[in-house]
Amino acid sequence: MGISWMSSFIRAIAVLLLLSQATPVWAFPWDQDMVDQPSAKPQESSAPAAPGSVPIVGGETLPAPITEQGMTDAKNEAAAIPNPITATAESLARGAYFYEINCLVCHGKDGRGNGSVGKKFVTKSPVDLNEDYTQDQADGQLFFTITRGRAIMPFYRDALSPAERWDVINYLKQEFGNQ
Ligand code: HEC
Repeated sequence: MGISWMSSFIRAIAVLLLLSQATPVWAFPWDQDMVDQPSAKPQESSAPAAPGSVPIVGGETLPAPITEQGMTDAKNEAAAIPNPITATAESLARGAYFYEINCLVCHGKDGRGNGSVGKKFVTKSPVDLNEDYTQDQADGQLFFTITRGRAIMPFYRDALSPAERWDVINYLKQEFGNQ
């Protein structure tokens, strides 16, 4: 009796675990963005903004869709966002630096999608950033991908400032896709 109760209990837990994995489309550990929480951040004021004031910094303005179609649409719409950072030597150097820290483990040193972590992906490998698929995308589309991530790629809206994301885009357009 004790054993059969235990085994139904374990089965129920297993089913619950499976369901919780399966339901949302974009629900990976990195979807839990700790930036989004009700706590007051350092130097954050709870005083309401004066009427007519216009925000000049902060705030992610890109949409955060939760379906695959929504992600595709939002990425395509983001093509209209202009890259505000010129690809100067300084920007490329910063881009190389942030690429190495954030992207290289999966996309590899040469962008081939063969970084040490990238090789472990079974369902889909990290994209080869040299291919036209990435190189032909507008900078704004890449900005959307880096900001929001993809089903099996983490997002970087918390790890990289918008300017740093544009530096990475300058770097991957300049460095990859030439061979
Ligand atoms: C944990 C591994 C991982 C890391 C780290 C990672 N990526 Fe990816 N990336 C992937 C995978 C996997 C895909 C394919 C995802 C898909 O199609 O759903 C991908 C896809 C992409 C794409 C193609 C998106 C599209 O339009 O389909 C771009 C561009 C890209 N990554 C850039 C980057 C950049 C830039 C960084 C660093 C800021 C980065 N990735 C970090 C795994 C990673």
